[in-house]
Amino acid sequence: MREDIARAAGCLRAGLVVAFPTETVYGLGADALNPRAVARIFAIKRRPPDHPLIVHLPDASYLERWARDIPDAAYRLAEKFWPGPLTLILKRARIVPDSITGGQDSVGLRVPGHPVALALLQQFGGAVAAPSANRFGHVSPTTAQHVRDELGEEVDMILDGGPCRVGLESTIVSLLDAQPVILRPGAISPPQLSAALGVAVGLGGVEEKRLRAPGLLAAHYAPSTPLCIAARENLEQQIRALLAQNKRVAVIACTQRMEIIPAHYYFLSSDPVSYAHDLYATLRAADAARYDVLLLEAVPEDEAWLAVRDRLTRAAQAHQ
Ligand code: TXA
Ligand code: MG
Repeated sequence: MREDIARAAGCLRAGLVVAFPTETVYGLGADALNPRAVARIFAIKRRPPDHPLIVHLPDASYLERWARDIPDAAYRLAEKFWPGPLTLILKRARIVPDSITGGQDSVGLRVPGHPVALALLQQFGGAVAAPSANRFGHVSPTTAQHVRDELGEEVDMILDGGPCRVGLESTIVSLLDAQPVILRPGAISPPQLSAALGVAVGLGGVEEKRLRAPGLLAAHYAPSTPLCIAARENLEQQIRALLAQNKRVAVIACTQRMEIIPAHYYFLSSDPVSYAHDLYATLRAADAARYDVLLLEAVPEDEAWLAVRDRLTRAAQAHQ
């Protein structure tokens, strides 16, 4: 692994594109100060150029190089949650290339909490721009094999650090205004953020999300197979209805066991942390099996499920 990391750092220095593990999902990384390398990320992902990338830093001391007018809240959150699954949106420093920000005056920064990602960033000795290592709009990869399956030959190197611990993308918090706002829920929860800052941190309004975080457009994080969400009490009836239409249906459930009805079942945990860990791998496996429909049992409404619910809602909307 040590040699692989050194080789990956060399690739980044040479302007190549490297897929690497983080604790959330795999990223598709390039030298953040090399616009040609960054342009290749957009080409490989087929991502529209106005969708900004997250810049990954080796440690919080890089904040001042990449952001300006940094509020105290940023230092407090960095101190508490970095390295970890939290991205801060701050005013960009002059050094930040337009290609990364999609032309906005802000930049997303994070120090990832995965030993391989940190070693890579430290050996590279600079910032790495990296979106999730999947095609635009698709499910994020949580193993190196997912990246190989989806992007394969197009990536110069894939650094394998095993399955990602969290499995969902980082929490994104905007600190651009006086009131911190969550643009994307993730493993770092609203109560954790509120406790660290001493003020209530809430979710941004839909309009604000549309404007500021294009990756948060309704349809995103989606498998290719149509995905429907059914409330627990309607699940059985919906399975029967789809089967009556001769659809090949896979059911992704987290509580009920209804193997009496002859459909294929994927069972995810009823614990939101384990559910998040396994969700994307399950969506990919179900996609690969080419069902007509994925029918997913709705997850609970409470806050512990916020990030999972957010991704599921967007994945389902992609097919409406
Ligand atoms: O966990 C993660 O955040 C992973 C790993 C690889 O770090 N990265 C990731 O990147 O999810 P990506 O590109 O798939 O999603 C980044 C999100 C997008 O929704 C984008 O719109 C938002 O971050 N974003 C980036 N810069 C932003 C900015 N300046 N203002 C608002 N949103 C921004
Ligand atoms: Mg993504």
